[in-house]
Amino acid sequence: MQNRKHSRLMNDAVYVIGERAMEVKRVIDILALSLALCIPVFGQGEYRDGCAPAELEAQQNTLAGYLSPDFAGDYNLAVANLFRLGALYQSMALRCGYMPSEPETNSMLEQTLSLVTLEDLIAAQSVGKDVAAILLDLQGTYGDPLAGQLLYNGLEPALGGVALGCAGCHENDAVAPLTSGAWTRINDLRLRQPEFRDYSHRQYLVESIVRPMAYIIPDYPPLMPDFYGSQLSAQHLADLLAFLDSQDQLLDDE
Ligand code: HEC
Repeated sequence: MQNRKHSRLMNDAVYVIGERAMEVKRVIDILALSLALCIPVFGQGEYRDGCAPAELEAQQNTLAGYLSPDFAGDYNLAVANLFRLGALYQSMALRCGYMPSEPETNSMLEQTLSLVTLEDLIAAQSVGKDVAAILLDLQGTYGDPLAGQLLYNGLEPALGGVALGCAGCHENDAVAPLTSGAWTRINDLRLRQPEFRDYSHRQYLVESIVRPMAYIIPDYPPLMPDFYGSQLSAQHLADLLAFLDSQDQLLDDE
């Protein structure tokens, strides 16, 4: 449970370390995780949920109330609270669309890496293997089919800078079901099978990717690696799904 919460919030940081480049799109707030304070969300016209001026101000006051630093009283606690407040304010700003400048991003990254190991960071950002939790995570995540195609073909790295080998197997029908026509095949064939009666299209795809051994498609070898849950962030997975869903052309022989 704790881990789950950890990774949900850590997902806020989409973070790729390639061989040459280190890119941080959003930065994490580790302390927000342990505090597990929930920022209330209310829909509000042109602003993102919870981001209208009055809501932001109310959130800020609430947090400051919880974490008010009392330097004269308990100095250590006060300093910790100061730090936590700063981190929470940062995550509020990021949530509400603030784009840090490059130097800001770099210094936040440096700070993050001084607090957690890269492995922990990657583990915390990866979607894992819990299909139901992943489906929830994906709800607010827009997938970009082009980004998905680059990931799928190993042209853009996934977490930790790894290149995914999806296309290597899925371009050869003797090895794995073809990428081409994936959307149609899944809707028209797989989801009509009794074992998938209660599955949504998305659930089938997510399970196929993070738990390939849950169901082995007849006539194919059980070849697909089962580690993708540890290499994909929610954004990566959303992009891959958007790409696969764009594959609706069946080849003649299918
Ligand atoms: C080493 C070969 C291999 C790699 C690499 C691989 N797969 Fe697969 N994949 C398979 C095989 C074989 C199957 C069919 C057997 C099974 O059910 O596991 C499959 C099944 C699937 C299915 C279900 C397709 C259907 O028609 O129902 C999806 C979706 C899928 N893979 C996506 C991916 C994605 C996304 C990646 C990369 C992140 C990937 N695969 C990497 C071999 C591979």
